[in-house]
Order: sequence, then C-alpha cells, then structure tokens
Amino acid sequence: MPTVRDLRAKAGEEPITMLTAYDAPTAAIVDEVGVDVVLVGDSVGNTTLGYETTLPVTVEDTARHVGAVARATEEALVVADMPFLSFGVDERESLENAGRMLKEEGADAVKLESGPHTVELTEKMVNLGIPVMAHLGLTPQHVNQYGGYPRQGTDPEAAERIVDLAEAHEEAGAFSLVLEHVPSNLAREVTETIDVPTIGIGAGPDCDGQVLVFHDAVGLSEWSPSFSKQFGDVRGEMLSAVESYVEAVEEGSFPAAEHSHEEADLDELY
Ligand code: KIV
Repeated sequence: MPTVRDLRAKAGEEPITMLTAYDAPTAAIVDEVGVDVVLVGDSVGNTTLGYETTLPVTVEDTARHVGAVARATEEALVVADMPFLSFGVDERESLENAGRMLKEEGADAVKLESGPHTVELTEKMVNLGIPVMAHLGLTPQHVNQYGGYPRQGTDPEAAERIVDLAEAHEEAGAFSLVLEHVPSNLAREVTETIDVPTIGIGAGPDCDGQVLVFHDAVGLSEWSPSFSKQFGDVRGEMLSAVESYVEAVEEGSFPAAEHSHEEADLDELY
C-alpha cells in the first residue's frame, strides 16, 4: 500500500499516474492497472451526479463516493477532494469534514482547491495527521469568479503568484500539488522550484505526474476539455451494448433457454 511518503519519493524519479474514480467497479479497474493515486474528485458532480458544475457536491456525496472507492482499492493512494465550502469557512468544520474522509471513509489524504486562504489550514491539517494535496492554477470551485474555466497563470504576475503559493503550500506541509490548466513553462518552473511532486492536468509534460478525469480518459464523457485525451471509446461500447440488449428483448432472442429455468414441481399446476 503506497503512502504519501512513497509518492513524494517518486517525484523526479518515475512519472506519477493519477485518475479520478467515484465508484467501486471503476476504482477496482484503476487500481488493478496500477495507477498510483485514485482521486475521488468533486468532478463527481459533473461526471456522475448530473450537475453543471462541482459546486452542489456535498460532504455527504463525497463521503459516500470516497467510501465506495476506498473499499475497492487495494494498492493506490485514495485522495478525497473536499467539496465547495466544506473547508475554509470555519476551521473546526474544515478539519472535521476532512478528518471524516480518513477516519470513517478510508481515504489516505485530502485535496483542497488552494489559494492564499488554504496555507494555514493546510498546516493545521498536516499537523493533525491529515495529508493534504494542494491544487493551484484553475480551481473549478471558482467558476463563478472566473466566468468559465479559463487558463491561469498566463501573465508574469499571475504566474509569480502561483509559484509563491506552491512554495507556501509546500512549506505548510502539502505532500503534492495539482496544477490545472496553466502554461507548460510555468508548470516546469513550479516543478523545479518545489520538492514535492507536481501532478498536472492541462499543464504540459514536465510535471512529476499527470491526472485526468476518468470519464474523459476512457471516452465516456460526451464532451471533454481540449487538454484531455480519450484513450478509449467506452461511451461507444456502452451505447452498442445497450442497443444490442434492446434489440434482443424486442426480437425475443433474450432471455434464451440458458437464461431461464423451469421447475418440474410446478408442471402439474401450470
Ligand atoms: O475534481 C477533479 O476531478 C479534480 C481533478 C481534475 C484534478 O480536481
């Protein structure tokens, strides 16, 4: 079972792989293949719960999905992505919500969409024994402030702020850092500046690892961002399986004899 220390040790040695998962069968597949980190992202809101953004995801939603993923994961590190306003409003509540993911649901660590407001909180969590993965660049919980999902760190001041915040979160004890939708040269600079592993999504090839949303990676999403890549056509496979099922029922070829049974004792009755 890898720990956050193992992950830190991998930085700069071997690329780190991370994928999201939200349910037990998906987590089992991701784990079986040997992915290092399973992130129970708040992207569960868009991918699984049918919301347009991640904002409506609750602590209860997260807990339920983290539990399912943790029960099905044997090797990978399980990281719980703390949902919008479950952290950062009230310190005690933030710590209890994050602690619950480890204590009751089996997560190994939490991820916080980070900024100046999460430096102290990260330190507090780490001191209490809750490993924290920070997340800088595009933080989708700020969608209403951004007015969409634009690239981040594209001018020198914004880029400098991201480097400074990366250092501050490393000093606060974060064991790794997700960098989302930032220029590759900025991600390279952050990766060279800090010692803990950087994990990129839309941040170029020079991070210590990469993360994608499962549904985008396997081709289950109807739409996926330009920085993502579909490595399969699971949506196509599912459509074709469902079509075959409907056709078989409609034409009467399912269920066949091998899917049914007759009970001899009932012969006299029927
Ligand atoms: O919620 C999520 O899936 C994420 C990843 C995109 C990093 O935060």
